[in-house]
Amino acid sequence: MGGEEPPGVAARALSGPGPADDLPDGLLVADRDARVVVFNTAAERMTGIAAAAALGRDFRDVLPLHDAEGRDWWKCLAPYDGLPTRTRHPERSLFLPGGTELLVTAGYRRGDGGRVERFSVCLRDAQRRARQERDRADLVSTVAHELRSPLTSVKGFTATLLAKWHRFNDDQKRVMLETVNADADRVTRLITELLDVSRIEAGRLEMRRQVVDLPDEVRKVIAGRVAAGDAEDRFRFEVRGALPEMWLDPDKMDQILGNLVENAVRHGAGTVTIVVEPDAHKEGAAVSVRDEGEGIPPEAVQRVFRQFWRGPGGNRRGGTGLGLYIVKGLVEAHGGAITVRRAPGGGAEFRFTVPAGAPDHAS
Ligand SMILES: Nc1ncnc2c1ncn2[C@@H]1O[C@H](COP(=O)(O)OP(=O)(O)OP(=O)(O)O)[C@@H](O)[C@H]1O
Ligand SMILES: [Mg+2]
Repeated sequence: MGGEEPPGVAARALSGPGPADDLPDGLLVADRDARVVVFNTAAERMTGIAAAAALGRDFRDVLPLHDAEGRDWWKCLAPYDGLPTRTRHPERSLFLPGGTELLVTAGYRRGDGGRVERFSVCLRDAQRRARQERDRADLVSTVAHELRSPLTSVKGFTATLLAKWHRFNDDQKRVMLETVNADADRVTRLITELLDVSRIEAGRLEMRRQVVDLPDEVRKVIAGRVAAGDAEDRFRFEVRGALPEMWLDPDKMDQILGNLVENAVRHGAGTVTIVVEPDAHKEGAAVSVRDEGEGIPPEAVQRVFRQFWRGPGGNRRGGTGLGLYIVKGLVEAHGGAITVRRAPGGGAEFRFTVPAGAPDHAS
């Protein structure tokens, strides 16, 4: 190939990140001479190859993909010499020399006589896909299990009461009915959570933004806990600095705050401290909820936001492990982010940020 600078390099240097860099999938585009003209950020991340090292080179050298049997994929495909009627290739699982598995699709742009003008290759993270599939299978079995245990108790107690009504005194009957009642609540709660999960997964969360007084929302959540029987001096609330006008979905905010505070009370210990402050990095707010309990073990920090993850004792405390997954989904629906770390005095500290937002029609 000639000594002149390949067009892709110049274009990228001039314009910075291009539209292809916004894609979650890796994209490689080769020109009619098989030279790479686009190599986006996702492709860099998945392959570990820098765009600067890829652009202008023959794409077959840049991405020496092979299949599970070790066959050179580009030799099998012969993209530039194969049948001129081919327009695309369905998804295949292929490997880079280091063993990284990628899901690859490809498509052609052809000119006169079927000559390849452009060849585009889309790369997807195979590990992520496998994880999603595993998660889905896990979800079904976990849901079945979680629904069955309260229903087994509902069925057991109602059957016993119906069959032997006169053998129990009022107190015994009351205890059984209370258990049935609590188990029915549990099923309802689980189903509500599952609906939230499916909305989050399908990206169908509807946002109803309005001006929200965040400190006021926190006060409401605390008042709700106190009304339900928690000691008032268990909570400490602090507002540090003035917040911008916040356009948020108030119901979702309640859900986020309610979940974090409930976790701090249920899984944590000691005083629950909630701090609301302006976000130092962005126009928005940051909220942290911390307690003085045992906290989250460092090795579990990656996992707490996953579906159905419960720490030791989490099951005993009657949770389903969906709470934090939903919280994360709701925070992200606001354009925010959530993290967890060890609180300065021990215990867990969950901190989320949300941008100030704008009225729905403007965003
Ligand atoms: N403040 C906390 N301190 C210690 N552990 C916590 C805290 N918050 C959450 N955890 C751990 O993280 C796990 C997951 O929390 P998550 O809210 O997702 O589920 P859950 O509370 O068990 O059930 P639910 O779906 O009812 O919320 C909990 O089971 C608990 O082990
Ligand atoms: Mg919870």
